[in-house]
This record gives sequence, C-alpha cells and structure tokens, in this order.
Amino acid sequence: MVGKRLVVADAPLSRVATSTLHGEDSPYFAGWKAYDENPYDAASNPGGVIQMGLAENQVSFDLLEGYLKAHPEAAGWGGAAPGSGVASFRDNALFQDYHGLKAFRRAMAGFMEKVRGGKARFDPDRIVLTAGATAANELLTFVLANPGDALLIPTPYYPGFDRDLRWRTGVNIVPVHCDSANGFQVTVPALEAAYADAVSSGTRVAGVLLTNPSNPLGTTVTRAALEDVLDFVARKNIHLISDEIYSGSVFSAPDLVSVAELVDESLARRVHIVYSLSKDLGLPGFRVGVVYSYNDDVVTTARRMSSFTLVSSQTQKTLAAMLADDDFAESYIRTNRERLRARHDHIVAGLDRAGVPCLRSNAGLFVWMDMRGLLDDQTVAGELRLWDRLLREVRLNISPGSSCHCSEPGWFRVCFANMSLDTLDLALARIRRFMDTWNKDAAALL
Ligand SMILES: Cc1ncc(COP(=O)(O)O)c(C=O)c1O
Repeated sequence: MVGKRLVVADAPLSRVATSTLHGEDSPYFAGWKAYDENPYDAASNPGGVIQMGLAENQVSFDLLEGYLKAHPEAAGWGGAAPGSGVASFRDNALFQDYHGLKAFRRAMAGFMEKVRGGKARFDPDRIVLTAGATAANELLTFVLANPGDALLIPTPYYPGFDRDLRWRTGVNIVPVHCDSANGFQVTVPALEAAYADAVSSGTRVAGVLLTNPSNPLGTTVTRAALEDVLDFVARKNIHLISDEIYSGSVFSAPDLVSVAELVDESLARRVHIVYSLSKDLGLPGFRVGVVYSYNDDVVTTARRMSSFTLVSSQTQKTLAAMLADDDFAESYIRTNRERLRARHDHIVAGLDRAGVPCLRSNAGLFVWMDMRGLLDDQTVAGELRLWDRLLREVRLNISPGSSCHCSEPGWFRVCFANMSLDTLDLALARIRRFMDTWNKDAAALL
C-alpha cells in the first residue's frame, strides 16, 4: 500500500556517488555551460560564445569521410554477396571476447608505430582496448595504486585527470610544480619535492603520470627530461604512465620522443603507455583507447578489467579496415599534421598581432596563451576575473591555467582545431578588439 507508507529521508548513496571529486563545479566545466547556454552560430547567433575550451580535432574529418565513401564496406554490414550483410551483422552483434578483435589490435599497433615514424615497435598482444583514454587512465590507476596512494603529475595538467584518476579509485594526485622558466619541462628537483610532500603526509607514491605531448602546453617532453623521469621512477621503485594521446599530433620540430623508444629490459615492468583515437583521428565519440604495458601482469589484469569498458565490435571492425590501409593511414597522419601546423601558425600570428604571446609549442590542438600582463592581481582570483571577462565580454570559452593546476596565474589554454577557419578568425578579431580597449584604458590611467 504505497499511499500509506511513511515518507522518510532518501536512502543514502555511496561515498563515490556523493563525492565532489568529479570536479563539475570547476571553471573548466562552467565555461562549457556558458557556451551551451549561448553557443555561437554564424547564421543564427553571431554574438554567441565561441567554444575554444574543447580539445577536439575537426580539421581532417574530410579525410575520414573520403575513406568511408571509397570503402563503404568498412562501415556497412558486409560484402556484395546476397545474405553476407546479415552474417556480418551477426558477427558484430554476438559475444565479444574481452581481448578485442585481433585484426583491430594489429591495426592499432601498426598505427601507433606509424605516428612515431617507425621509431618504436608495438606488440598487438600487449594492446588492451578501452572506451577512450579516460577509461585507460582510470583502469591503469586501479591496477597500479591502492586507495589513499598517490600519482605525481607535472603541472599544468589536463583537468579531466582530477576526475579520471581520483574519483572512483580513491587515489590522490600530488602536483609536480613546473614553471615557465624552462618552458614547464619537468625537473628532478620538482619531482623530488612532490615525492617528499607525499611522503611527509604519509602517502605512498605509486607512480608518475606524464602527458607527452602535453595537454595543455602543446609541447613535447624533451629527451633529457624523459630520461630524468625514467631514472626517478627506477630509483623510487614506482611506475610511469605515459599518456601519449597526442603522439600523432606533433606538427613541428622537435619530434616526439616516446617512452616506447627509451624503454629497456630494466625499465619494462614499470612503464605503461596510454593512447586513444580521440585526438589524432578526431574520433572522441567512437570511444577507442589503449593501455599498452610492457609488464605481463599489468596486461593480464588490465585485460580482465577492460570487460567494464569494451569498445563496440562494429567500431573495431570499421577502424580496423581504415587503420590497416597503410597508404590511407600514412597520408592521413601527414596531412593532419600539416593542417594542424597551419592552424597553429595562424592562431599564433593572430594573437601576436593582437599583442598576446604564447608559449612556443609544436604539438596538440591548442596554444598556451600568456596573459599574465593583463592580470589586476597575480593570483588565481585575478586570473579568474580575467577569464570571466573573456567569457562574458569577449564571449570566448577558454580554459584558465588554474583549472590545469598551473602554478603561475595568467596562462590560458586556447583550442584551435574544433572550429572553422572563419570562426577562428572571428575569435581572433574579438581578442584584438579586447586588447585594443585594454591598451587604451591602460594608457588613460598613466
Ligand atoms: C591528456 C588527455 N588524456 C586523456 C583524455 C581523454 O581522452 P578520451 O576522449 O580518449 O577519453 C584527454 C582528452 O582531452 C586528454 O587530453
């Protein structure tokens, strides 16, 4: 008798469900909300907010569409023979073993080799498929660390790590503070300081997570810094996760030095690589990620855990055909890089004309814009006041450095590959107008 039941308080939810570690209240997500409420559209809302906070690669979509047009069988249900479509539908619909399709793992290994210019080899049997790098990073954290342990992460870092590595695992992040004096490259003293911080609060350090190339910096980690990190993890007997999700998006020198090129017998059991097709191929909606470990126990456990986060068979089948086509894959990687370089050079030149410098970068889908000179106060509060003006007055959603845990206020990540060139030009014109007004106001105060 439902009507007669006494209504009491809700039954409680779990600690994970009620935790705030998801981080949805940060400016990173607040900017997205402001965009969603008033999105720019050239025809219907030309005064709306331009989304420059989304690291999405749309510059090479036509290449993928061209491939699918030329190879309809890759995305369809099968061959020309009568009835073969139904058979292929069944193949995809029925049980998928959690090892993933062999043809797809082989194609992924080949693609990961191609983006590194053949300087590293990948064994398809070490590839564990996951639903994106989000799942790959969380899965590795579950495998390498216990609740209460910590991962050391050089700053500034991708804001999503606060959710991906901490929320459900109970693992902590200890920032390794890097600064602009050396282009934010990680150093041994900074690693030692973060390690000491963790140990002094009774926290066990399980590993270091490096993002190479870096989001949000758009720079590759130098060979010397990478060697230092490898020495450090060996000395402390901890793991190294190298998130190389932007490895195919290095568009100018210096070339990427992947940890896969440096790993040797003595390091192999502590080195793990994360990859995904969300950035280099621009397919975040397909949810395709990879954990690649040189440690057999990690591969075995990660593979078991991947049951929670498999990639659909249909997606694997389509992408296996596309990535195994050597001519297509090589030409895609080359053209995509050229287009990213052109976009990067375009935005850097536009910002320069507006009087806004950027960190010199060579990879990724964004620039790291230096507006330290515009802060009324060199604090996070000062940075967020400027960020709010850029969102409300200039109507640009960009990511404040503080959302990436940057230790210097005044840096902002600005994405350039998720919009048309016309929209990018409009964004640059808006920044230029803002800077002109700012310079006039500053001159009037003198
Ligand atoms: C460094 C880094 N790691 C992981 C991810 C998550 O990627 P995915 O869409 O494959 O889950 C992102 C996305 O922006 C990222 O920049």
